[in-house]
Amino acid sequence: ASATAALLLALPANAAELTIGFSQIGSESGWRAAETSVSKQVAAKRKVNLKIADAQQKQENQIKAIRSFIAQNVDAIFLAPVVSTGWDSVLKEAKEAKIPVVLLDRDIDPSGKDLYLTAVTSDSVHEGAVAGDWLAKTVGTKACNIVELQGTVGASVAANRKKGFDTAIAKHPNLKVVRSQTGDFTRAKGKEVMESFIKAEGGGKSICAVYAHNDDMMVGAIQAMKEAGLKPGKEILTVSIDAVPDIFKAMAGGEANATVELTPNMAGPALDAIAAFKSKGTVPPKWIQTESKLYTAADDPQKIYDSKKGLGY
Ligand code: AHR
Repeated sequence: ASATAALLLALPANAAELTIGFSQIGSESGWRAAETSVSKQVAAKRKVNLKIADAQQKQENQIKAIRSFIAQNVDAIFLAPVVSTGWDSVLKEAKEAKIPVVLLDRDIDPSGKDLYLTAVTSDSVHEGAVAGDWLAKTVGTKACNIVELQGTVGASVAANRKKGFDTAIAKHPNLKVVRSQTGDFTRAKGKEVMESFIKAEGGGKSICAVYAHNDDMMVGAIQAMKEAGLKPGKEILTVSIDAVPDIFKAMAGGEANATVELTPNMAGPALDAIAAFKSKGTVPPKWIQTESKLYTAADDPQKIYDSKKGLGY
C-alpha cells in the first residue's frame, strides 16, 4: 500500500488534465490497429492527452519510449509489452519517478509484478483452451493432424495460447500437433509458414486443422490453402483468436470455422483504473481480466462482420 501511495504523488486531480504515454507494440495485426484506434477514441472521450509511441515490434524502441515518457513526467504509462522479459530496469526507473505503469493486453514475467500497478489482459491460457476444446468437440473421435501458427516468440500471449491449447487437446489422443512454428502474428508470415506446412505435409492432404494464435495469421493461412487447391473451413478446420472483421468475412464465405474474441478496448478499463487511483486513491486489482468469447460459423458471421467493421479495425 505504501508503494502505491507513493505513486499517487504528482497525479493531477482532474482526468481532463491527465497525460498518459502509451508504448504500443506496432501494427502487426488488424487487432493491434484496432486497439490503437480504440485507445485514441476512449482517451478523447475522457479528455485524456494520450501520447502513443509505435515501437515497430522492437523492445528496444519500447524501452526508449518509456524513458522518454519518464523524462516528460507523464501522469501514467501504458505498456503493451512485445515480449515478457527484460523490463525490470526501465520499470524500476518509472517506479522511482513515481509514474504508475499499466500493462495492456500482454504480461511480463512474474518477477516484475511489483513494478506495475495493474494489467488489463484476457486470460490467454483460457483462450487457447477454448480453441482446443472447440476443435476436440468438432473433430469427435477421428484422427486429426493439426498445424499451429504461433505468435511472436517470447510474447506472453504466444506462450499462453500454446499452453492452453496443448492442455485441452492432451485429453484427446486422436488430436496431434504435427507442425508448429511462429508466424509473428502477421498475415504475411502466416501465409509463408502455412505454405511450408502444406509442402511438408504432402500438399496439405494430411492436415485436418489449423490453429493460429491470431486471426491475421489465419487469414494468411487461408490464402495459402486456397492457392494450394485446398478448401479451408471445409476440408481443413480453422480456429484462431481475436475475432477481427476479416475472419468473420472468411467465416461467412465458408472458409473459416471459429475464433475466440479478444476485445481491442484495453485502454478503457486502464483509464478508469488510473482515474480512480488518481482521484480517490483506489488501488485496482492486480489483474483486470477481459472476456474471451467463442464465435463459430453458426453465429451469423455476416452480421458480426457488418457490425464490427468501422469500429476501428
Ligand atoms: O497481444 C494480443 C495479440 O497481439 C493479438 O491477439 C494479436 O493479433 C496481436 O498482434
